[in-house]
Amino acid sequence: MERIRIIDSKNHVGETVQIGGWIANKRSSGKIAFLQLRDGSAYFQGVVVKAEVPEEVFETAKSLNQETSVIITGEIREDTRSKFGYEIGVSNIEVIGESHDYPITPKEHGTDFLMDHRHLWLRSTKQHAIMQIRNELIRATYEFFNTRGFIKIDPPILTSSAPEGTTELFKTDYFGQEAYLSQTGQLYLEAAAMAFGKVFSFGPTFRAEKSKTRRHLTEFWMMEPEMAFVEHDESLEIQEQYVAFMVQSCLDNCDYALDVLGRDKELLKTYTETPYPRISYDDAVTLLQENGFDDVKWGDDFGSPHETFIANNFNKPVFILNYPKSMSPFYMKPHPDRDDVVIRADLIAPEGYGEIIGGSQRAVGYDYLLEQIEKDGLNEEDYAWYLDLQKYGSVPHSGFGLGLERTVTWISGTEHVREASPFPRLLHRIYP
Ligand code: 4AD
Ligand code: MG
Repeated sequence: MERIRIIDSKNHVGETVQIGGWIANKRSSGKIAFLQLRDGSAYFQGVVVKAEVPEEVFETAKSLNQETSVIITGEIREDTRSKFGYEIGVSNIEVIGESHDYPITPKEHGTDFLMDHRHLWLRSTKQHAIMQIRNELIRATYEFFNTRGFIKIDPPILTSSAPEGTTELFKTDYFGQEAYLSQTGQLYLEAAAMAFGKVFSFGPTFRAEKSKTRRHLTEFWMMEPEMAFVEHDESLEIQEQYVAFMVQSCLDNCDYALDVLGRDKELLKTYTETPYPRISYDDAVTLLQENGFDDVKWGDDFGSPHETFIANNFNKPVFILNYPKSMSPFYMKPHPDRDDVVIRADLIAPEGYGEIIGGSQRAVGYDYLLEQIEKDGLNEEDYAWYLDLQKYGSVPHSGFGLGLERTVTWISGTEHVREASPFPRLLHRIYP
């Protein structure tokens, strides 16, 4: 007999098959038992009719606890009443692993309790749907960049540089030398872009953020392309095409997950239309000041209410361009006509999800970069290799970083970034 996965039910209607899974929930009366089954691929119903199975099978069905693992034998049928569309008419149940007093019941639980049980919470329908979205974004990312001639370069995770500022570093001892967990692979990717033209990385990055917000993780995945001979305008076009491509991929391949999450698909569709609006930092400050944000001054970083207001003004992802130099990392190219701003853009997601991309054109020129490194109090010796790039055929280049978890949170319409990571690392949380 064929062992199938629930997700493939549509190809087996009328066949008797086996499914290995777990009991997510159960309802039973004297004559019939409804088993809510999950096998990791999807969730559907198993129907056990007392009159149609041996007595011990019905007794087993009635005795099943939540999260007992089973191998079910039965016939796949269409089930027009359920959203999933299929069910299994159960003829046999083999119990594989018992389960007693499963802590996560269908009733409501507090966030701390759920976070303490993240290893089990992952089994729930909502978490399952969010991880499907995450997986699709990863898949779509590789498709997008691989089909455009980018090659994946993996920067180191243990580093001696701190390009995004020295305050949010996880320090570690590297055989007597101070090392850090990587905040960004960017500087290494710039070196790689000079070797391979168009490169990207996709991996974990770390920030010892003391902020306890719904957008901050201490460990998150970043997608970082870097492109030689690309000015910033072209980079912005690639960014918007990439984001639109991810949204479209979820609409195409995650219909069921989006339904489970109750996400408005018509709204998502509007995010597949490019170009995205662009507003300068200067105009964003004015917009905020004219709309009651009296506390905002030119030169300030935007907080989340500010970003939300700006994004709501457009109902689309929006680029904020040309930020003050004073609040930007050392490696960004100064604006050719103004010395107070740099060629940088952040992409702000709509609906209050905040910044999902930070990107810039990179500064070139040995003397300029050396001066910036010194100004930032960074150790010149640690950046000698980076400065070398300026000595051997430096070219205009641009790149950006997209935060995976923030993008998952936005596309899945989830409240908090912690649910976008299977085992999130947050301020004061490293368990489980
Ligand atoms: O804006 P950031 O700091 O940019 C960089 O690190 C650049 N070096 C990237 C590059 O140009 N190659 O971070 C990029 C993105 C942010 O827009 C956000 O989506 C995400 O990374 N991010 C975080 N996500 C979750 N938790 C945090 N603490 C994050 N910090 C940044
Ligand atoms: Mg940023």
